[in-house]
Amino acid sequence: MKTMLKTVTLISGFIFVLVFLTANYTQAQDKKPWDIPAKYKAMKTTVKAGDKEALADGKMMWSKYCKSCHGSKGLGDGPKSAMLKTFPGDFSTAAFQKYSDGEIYYMSFVGRDEMPNFEKKVTSESDRWALVAYMRKMGK
Ligand code: HEC
Repeated sequence: MKTMLKTVTLISGFIFVLVFLTANYTQAQDKKPWDIPAKYKAMKTTVKAGDKEALADGKMMWSKYCKSCHGSKGLGDGPKSAMLKTFPGDFSTAAFQKYSDGEIYYMSFVGRDEMPNFEKKVTSESDRWALVAYMRKMGK
């Protein structure tokens, strides 16, 4: 009887570990494409290349609104990321940096599902583009 109980405990342990690993694996792999309206895709940034003031502004807002989930370097490893069902993305990758400025704008401020809408928190266009410019730096 005792050995059987041990076996059952052992098997449940294995199942638990398996489920846990699968759940983490799913978080990283579950990347569904964004459906971005043409209007947003065509948008152009108002930040000029190398505008230090805009980058400083972007950095400040990144720390305030985005870092908790996305991490300080945009790797998707912020303190809140472990609680998310969806991986927030790795902004240092070429795949991310291939998005146009307008696409990044849409994903950042309109959002979807676990990515919150920030249109009411980051209201000025110049602040929004400063954040986009800051995310661009993460690929370099
Ligand atoms: C509560 C956690 C959370 C916060 C805060 C947050 N994000 Fe996100 N973000 C996510 C998640 C989760 C996703 C993935 C959503 C999806 O794919 O459905 C995401 C996706 C994104 C993407 C698209 C990434 C890709 O490769 O598909 C961008 C861009 C983005 N966030 C920018 C921002 C910006 C800018 C801020 C701050 C203004 C911010 N996020 C704040 C959780 C967060």
